[in-house]
Amino acid sequence: MTTTYPAYIEQNKDRFIAELFDLLRIPSISADSKYAPDVRRTAEWVAQSLRLAGADNVEVMPTGGHPMVYGEKITDLSKPTVLVYGHYDVQPPDPIDLWHSPPFEPVLKDGKIYARGACDDKGQMFMHIKALEMLMHSGEPLPVNLKFMIEGEEEVGSENLGRFLEENRAKLRADVILVSDTGILSNEHPSICVGLRGLAYMFVDVTGPNRDLHSGMYGGAVANPINVLCDMISSLHDEKRRVTVPGFYDRVVELTNAERAAMGQAPFSEAEFLQELDMAAPMGEEGYTTLERKSIRPTLDVNGIWGGYTGEGAKTVIASEAHAKISMRLVPDQDPEEIAQLFQKHFESLAPASVKVKVTAHHGGWPAVTPTDSVAYQAAAKAFEQAWGKTPIPMREGGSIPIVALFEKVLGLKTVLLGFGLDSDAIHSPNEHYGVFNFLKGIETIAAFHKNFGAMPQA
Ligand code: BES
Ligand code: ZN
Repeated sequence: MTTTYPAYIEQNKDRFIAELFDLLRIPSISADSKYAPDVRRTAEWVAQSLRLAGADNVEVMPTGGHPMVYGEKITDLSKPTVLVYGHYDVQPPDPIDLWHSPPFEPVLKDGKIYARGACDDKGQMFMHIKALEMLMHSGEPLPVNLKFMIEGEEEVGSENLGRFLEENRAKLRADVILVSDTGILSNEHPSICVGLRGLAYMFVDVTGPNRDLHSGMYGGAVANPINVLCDMISSLHDEKRRVTVPGFYDRVVELTNAERAAMGQAPFSEAEFLQELDMAAPMGEEGYTTLERKSIRPTLDVNGIWGGYTGEGAKTVIASEAHAKISMRLVPDQDPEEIAQLFQKHFESLAPASVKVKVTAHHGGWPAVTPTDSVAYQAAAKAFEQAWGKTPIPMREGGSIPIVALFEKVLGLKTVLLGFGLDSDAIHSPNEHYGVFNFLKGIETIAAFHKNFGAMPQA
């Protein structure tokens, strides 16, 4: 691991960080409509920073939801074109009380930038704008043509994106998609993400009596929707911690023994994984390792569950309703819509006659696997060798970026997932952060990617 950066980064790093801080100060929470004006303001900020870096034809384009930022630098049509995708929206910062400093007041501490979006994905997306700026100042022609497409709805399922791609096919024409919204194994063992899980997100509502009841007068004689919901949820896994929804595994592509053996070689330490989370033991599907469980296996998790009295003190009550948000992470070739239907049918069938159950599919996205034998992957691997002095390991990850499969389906384009986050960066959690080293090395690696890709004979 080399900790020196190219001269342009060394000379400008304090300004790069100060600019990123300005971006991190805008609370672009896409899930909460209260923040729509801030989301809009963030789009304008990103557009302006693209212009300042040297991009042309920059626009904030309307979609059915939050706007898309587009910009380009087309300098030589004989060179390949890289379409950079990223997102400027962030997850809600809750629970706010657990943050050591306010989520939208970035601070630099021990070489890390703390703020919501520091890593996911403002910090990672901004590396691409700074890489453009650096290449523009290199005194050499740009090695590739660049297009930027930065969206504001990734954290809420990119629901307007399919249409945006369909409507802007010509504008988005490119040779490859480049995304920094994933991670590496560690700074000592950099990796390139070559697979993402898909997602099917469900809301479930269980209704019992038509009003909240005194738990002494009625308890024991009527269905308690919270008890029933818990029973239903606990039956969704069997004793091997496999998901019990019929048909759930039908389309799952099992890895070969050779692929699993290769995965087993990755320098992943389960002990360190547990230690970082302060947990005594792992848990998951029988017959698979922790690394496999969190990347190549499909899962089902409750993301939120509520009902009844949760205020201070005790209240003796049987609530009328109970609710949960349940997500399933999917792997090739599971189809998010089909899985949502299978879940709905099964969950409804679990309901005893004493309650009413409503199941609603929320958003979803397809899993994706990206190639390692492409020119673009070779360009990325070489960029890591140049900037980090190490050959990166290909690794599948457990998160989802629904656009990766959409890019392939709508535009026929493959993606390179050139992310630099660490599991310990606490994305989606309180105290999210991003290492300054990763931020600056990321800029260097991205610029190296463009140079390598522009210089390699295209397949
Ligand atoms: N950056 C993440 C995805 C990610 C995280 C990929 C870790 C690989 C490793 C992204 O912003 C994200 O959180 N996506 C959502 C997508 C969902 C809302 C459809 C996710 O995975 O929950
Ligand atoms: Zn993200």
